[in-house]
Amino acid sequence: MPRLFNFSAGPAVLPEPVLAVASDHLLSLGETGIGALEHSHRGDVFAEILASAEARIRRLAELPDDIVVLFLQGGASLQFAMLPANLRAAGQSADYINSGTWSQKAIAAAGTDGLVHVAASSEDSGFRRLPADPIPSEQPAYLHYTSNNTIAGTQFPGPPSLPDHIPLACDASSDIFSRPLDLTVHDLVYAGAQKNLGPSGLTLVLVRRHLLERAPDNLPAILRYDTHAAAGSLYHTPPVFSIFVTELVLKWLEDQGGLQVIAARNLAQATRLYERIDSSRLLKGRVEPADRSVMNVVFTAGSPEADRRFLDRCNAADVVGLKGHRSVGGLRASLYNAQPDAAVDRLLEVIDAFEAEATS
Ligand SMILES: Cc1ncc(COP(=O)(O)O)c(C=O)c1O
Repeated sequence: MPRLFNFSAGPAVLPEPVLAVASDHLLSLGETGIGALEHSHRGDVFAEILASAEARIRRLAELPDDIVVLFLQGGASLQFAMLPANLRAAGQSADYINSGTWSQKAIAAAGTDGLVHVAASSEDSGFRRLPADPIPSEQPAYLHYTSNNTIAGTQFPGPPSLPDHIPLACDASSDIFSRPLDLTVHDLVYAGAQKNLGPSGLTLVLVRRHLLERAPDNLPAILRYDTHAAAGSLYHTPPVFSIFVTELVLKWLEDQGGLQVIAARNLAQATRLYERIDSSRLLKGRVEPADRSVMNVVFTAGSPEADRRFLDRCNAADVVGLKGHRSVGGLRASLYNAQPDAAVDRLLEVIDAFEAEATS
């Protein structure tokens, strides 16, 4: 079966060379005689993979030494709960920038058992633009933002500026390692792996060491960052296969030339697509041009019926995964790191054909 051009928002397309190497190791990882899914997480072989994944992350993101790398489970959604549970003291507020559905979910999770202050919001625009600069509360535990809004299709150009004493936390699930990530200004960054890093099942957390001490004594061990840090991410059985594939993706990223190079490639792809949408008589982007995401291009063909016709044309051309999120409708093309230029070429051809059909 030939591979389709997959624009899914996640799980998403992975680099083909990575998939080929991963499948080569299913029956026997190297010369070990044990498959990549079957190795014990306590064995030397997996220890080497885990150490290599961490080393590659440190190199790619030029992590400062006081950033701890954690390989966890539970998705970004568990981080919505773990972050306030670990960092927010009783009676203290946690500040959030509300820039879309995923920010709202993070806010809701933090609001179940503590104070939340929304420091900025673009909800009144239907999240068609980014919020204004945040206005933090008095002494917040941290300020949290979602660097790329997967559903709305907006992306912060960089971290918000904040007074030095406020720790900055970021949900980078849909743009981690798609561009340089500055861990000198962030204090905690988390991301589900399933868009830019590898398969689902793994959540990466990068956290400043001194923040590990903040967890209240009554927090269960499994939910504590310090538990996982002390155990080197082996407190319980980690998702070994997800980590194995992620290590290969990280190697692929290094082989591409690192985050600057991948960022330039991502921007070039997104620019081609946005320019074509802007020049189209039928298609229309959903968000303010200045706030557009390089990862998730959200647009419409003008009506639900026209969107359906566009999707039919896509399917006929082996282009899949463009149906917009059910909460906003329309169309969405996700351009994560592994998206090949050929997929964008094909999508642009579909747009040309769609327009030609409408005028004929
Ligand atoms: C920005 C963002 N945050 C959080 C999530 C939720 O991630 P998970 O399903 O891994 O919990 C997603 C999923 O798409 C996302 O895009």
